[in-house]
Amino acid sequence: MPHTIVIFGASGDLTSRKLIPALYNLKRKGRLPEDAKIVGFSRTDFSHEAWRKDLRATTQEFAGDKFKADVWDDFADQVFYCDGDIGKAEDFEKLGKFLTELEGGEDASRLYYLSTAPRFYGPAIEQLGKAGLACEEGDCQRRVIIEKPFGVDLESAKALNKTVHAHFKEKQVYRIDHYLGKETVQNLFVLRFANTIFEPVWNRNFIDHVQITVAEEVNVGSRAGYYDTAGVVRDMIQNHLLQLLMVTAMEPPASYAADPVRDEKVKVLLAVRPKSPKDIARDTVRAQYRGYLQADGVPDDSTTATFAAIKLGIDNWRWQGVPFYLRSGKSLSCRTTQIVIQFRQPPHMLFKEGPRTIRDANRLIIQVQPAEGIQMHFQTKVPDAGMTMRQTNLDFNYQKNFGGNIPEAYERLLLDAIEGDASLFARADEVEAAWGICDPILAAWAESDKAASDAPKLLSYEPGYWGPTESTEWMIAQRREWFDACPVLQ
Ligand code: BG6
Repeated sequence: MPHTIVIFGASGDLTSRKLIPALYNLKRKGRLPEDAKIVGFSRTDFSHEAWRKDLRATTQEFAGDKFKADVWDDFADQVFYCDGDIGKAEDFEKLGKFLTELEGGEDASRLYYLSTAPRFYGPAIEQLGKAGLACEEGDCQRRVIIEKPFGVDLESAKALNKTVHAHFKEKQVYRIDHYLGKETVQNLFVLRFANTIFEPVWNRNFIDHVQITVAEEVNVGSRAGYYDTAGVVRDMIQNHLLQLLMVTAMEPPASYAADPVRDEKVKVLLAVRPKSPKDIARDTVRAQYRGYLQADGVPDDSTTATFAAIKLGIDNWRWQGVPFYLRSGKSLSCRTTQIVIQFRQPPHMLFKEGPRTIRDANRLIIQVQPAEGIQMHFQTKVPDAGMTMRQTNLDFNYQKNFGGNIPEAYERLLLDAIEGDASLFARADEVEAAWGICDPILAAWAESDKAASDAPKLLSYEPGYWGPTESTEWMIAQRREWFDACPVLQ
């Protein structure tokens, strides 16, 4: 069955920076079905040729030396444009007719990609439904990809799910979180479930705590207008960091298929211990980098956090008593995403020279990006120095082992959606459970901005460091230490 991919928000940034370069790369690698057609939909008045010309320039920029003129020409033959307004029912009828004509009246599987501003997700879904473009009967295959953010809190996420489910069945819905498209995140499934040596120690008996850090060196740049309404919890923690938490903490699924995987992921979120305002005061640190208030579009009195560190507990047999520390921020020391599995200290140190702090215990570091790899830290005897020991490192590096470049997350995710595999997409209950964890934190912070309350006040930090010094002190007070290391780029 031929495939049609319709991109709503065709003239937007995500389309030109990520979606079209990813589809182009699939074409270059021979993975884009020959009969696939890509249709852009937005209000800009483009001809097919004008849109292709625009995309050629941006793809050349973002694909870099992977850009090949002859591949592009073949790819461009598969690209079309239909202008229209999400607010107008007649434009959806026009789109419907255009698609039927383009597909030559054949049954085609259609993938609608909502790459618009989030406020258009609901209206676009409704228009698709009303125009009869969302059906799922017999061979009529229709799927919809919805970008993040999926709502701004639990209530709005539920409302959006309700709108979506009025027109699409859950199996037709692909809520995208591009972190799940990263090779190194998928490798976490492989590391845990295709090896025997990790799983037996992947629990409270051996692990002291887990750190999940997504640090960004960039500041909010030109996105301040959006960012100020979101902040680090809505922008990063509700989605990307909780996805990393789920994949790290989940039980082995019954099979590697969409629902078994997502069933186990959701169970993790449902086991996250709810927090009272008092817990939130103790278990979170929030801060804003100095200079944020001067960014264009940020109100002078903004209390939006650009950094947060949050301690979560998971109430189940595997993880009882093992804190998960989630930390993310903009304008930090460097760009690094890493999951640190910090093992316990040996129960008894035989050697008087031996180290005694948690910092020296075994540690597994999953370096998600950049310098993708995995490192195992362990103690080794220093030669010719009595029983002195030092921490050394077993080091697996993607670049060294596999060479080449790691593909962009969107390539894998788009292909999965085209092929109807939802394993790496979030389900309705998953998104709602994630908001259920974040909402009380956001509410307690907002409360503390208004009046005296237990919740921690907004701190500030100097750009170029690991967040506020209070975050470092907070960990030390718990007899632990952040693993603050910038990856070494080869
Ligand atoms: C996006 C956030 O979802 O993820 C951005 O909106 C953030 O603020 C980006 O910069 C980070 O993605 P990556 O793949 O560069 O780590």
